[in-house]
Amino acid sequence: MASSLARFLSPQGSYAGFDIVRVGIVWAQKNIASRFPNFSFVHADIFNKHYNPKGKLSSSSFRLPYEDASFDFVFLKSVFTHLLPDSIQNYLQEIGRVIKPTGSCLATLFLMNPESTELIRRGQSSLNLLSYSDDCYVVDAKFPETAVGISQSAFLQWCEKSGLTPKPPIHYGSWCGRQDYMSYQDIVLLSPAVQGDQLGQDFTTAW
Ligand SMILES: C[S@@+](CC[C@H](N)C(=O)[O-])C[C@H]1O[C@@H](n2cnc3c(N)ncnc32)[C@H](O)[C@@H]1O
Repeated sequence: MASSLARFLSPQGSYAGFDIVRVGIVWAQKNIASRFPNFSFVHADIFNKHYNPKGKLSSSSFRLPYEDASFDFVFLKSVFTHLLPDSIQNYLQEIGRVIKPTGSCLATLFLMNPESTELIRRGQSSLNLLSYSDDCYVVDAKFPETAVGISQSAFLQWCEKSGLTPKPPIHYGSWCGRQDYMSYQDIVLLSPAVQGDQLGQDFTTAW
């Protein structure tokens, strides 16, 4: 994503990325940031049993290393698919903090709803996500962060609690064996809720 955006953003635009895998960040600093000074990459030494088992920080309390209201666009491609509920809720709060009031956020994830649950039950899903904890489903209880599914209703509530309004429609993915899809993972678009925004509230209620 960063490589593609390096050719897309003008010098007036900038990109800030972070990840918990040091080698990926070092690669991006060497190959992208060195040639595009408006691109920056930071390593966050956060524990994740799958990606960074020696990490010292917790994603459920991590503060994103960015100023309040500093981003027009925030995206997480296949990141919430590796975080547990407390961490997702913290990241949503943090996104709500760093995003500009006019900004938007795109996140991909595996949403558990009646359709995906039924497809998993019928054995048609590429991931056998099974109940692990409240609102959370995993393929491997010993390494839960390997692949995480989240209850759709819980996720949308957490978004609202973080001041982020989901923008319908959800673009559902093929991961669970669905025949009508946009991509592999489910895609959700969010925008900061405007105080007293009746239109946003109506949309959220309509989910
Ligand atoms: C499946 S990969 C997706 C990578 C990239 N976004 C893409 O689509 O190709 C999941 C990424 O999430 C990162 N990750 C896992 N836990 C994270 C956390 N707490 N904060 C930020 N990134 C995290 C992993 O290190 C990994 O790079």
